[in-house]
Amino acid sequence: MSAQYGDLGRILVIIPTYNEIDNIDMITGRLRAAVPEVDVLIVDDNSPDGTGARADELAAADDHIHVLHRQGKEGLGAAYKAGFAWGLERDYGVLVEFDADGSHQPEQLPAVLEALRDADMVKGSRWVPGGSVVNWPLHRELLSRGGSIYTRIMLGLPYRDITGGLNAFRADTLRAILDDPIDQQGYGIQRDLTWNAHKRGFRILEVPIEFVERSHGESKMSGTVVKEAMVRTTQLGLRHRAAQLRDALTRGRDGLGGAGEKAGRFVGAVSRSASDAVRAAKRGREDR
Ligand code: GDD
Ligand code: MN
Repeated sequence: MSAQYGDLGRILVIIPTYNEIDNIDMITGRLRAAVPEVDVLIVDDNSPDGTGARADELAAADDHIHVLHRQGKEGLGAAYKAGFAWGLERDYGVLVEFDADGSHQPEQLPAVLEALRDADMVKGSRWVPGGSVVNWPLHRELLSRGGSIYTRIMLGLPYRDITGGLNAFRADTLRAILDDPIDQQGYGIQRDLTWNAHKRGFRILEVPIEFVERSHGESKMSGTVVKEAMVRTTQLGLRHRAAQLRDALTRGRDGLGGAGEKAGRFVGAVSRSASDAVRAAKRGREDR
């Protein structure tokens, strides 16, 4: 077997699973066939349907497949984070976030890895030219497009698909951002990883992918997940914009006498009240 991506180091594809018994053979089989040199790490949260036990059987039969068992369902972000730590400890050069349900197509992974040769992080993207979704209901498409547009505006990010779950990282990129805050429960992890890498000046490329809605099992996406993502994005955005404004005012302060400083303090106070309001709204929702 030729080491086609040898220059990038060893590659680990991380697949979090919760009740994916109908998909786990399919996804590992397709991954190993499409890119034979990758290692696969299944991060299972003690799925009641026996996905973890099946993953052990697959791992016993194939040196390239590994399993990380966790106590219970702790969320997508927590599962990826545990997978990243596992891979970094073992000196993988590239770590890839993937799904079990076939939405991310293993056959499109080579294009993502190619792009990583010129980047620190590559995002599989549905909303760049050439990208698409298949079998998604209109409300999911609107939600996803809307979510990315909102996040783009709030955080001033130049990417089209910010919430997408197929992302490849060089190990150095992850090492630099892994201790930054990351959403553990919901799907906010994708926004957080992108934002953290972008803030530190890493080069992020988007590669078009065709995202296919699962045909087996259930999505764990819910109204709560969406609301939480909105609240957190708004909070991050307000904080970011306030910091920008403070910087601009501080730079102009000498020219403006005390006025700039006062304005800076005012903006800080406004942004703190806004964050407080968001937190209060969130608490109110949880109490209901
Ligand atoms: N271990 C673990 N723990 N795995 C989980 C958990 C969890 O709490 N929740 C979900 N998973 C696994 C699923 O079994 C699946 O393999 C993968 O994570 C994605 O979950 P889905 O429930 O299929 O997510 P989705 O299709 O709604 O969302 C996908 O697309 C979104 C963008 O539209 C994911 O890729 C998201 O990350 C992405 O934001
Ligand atoms: Mn899915």
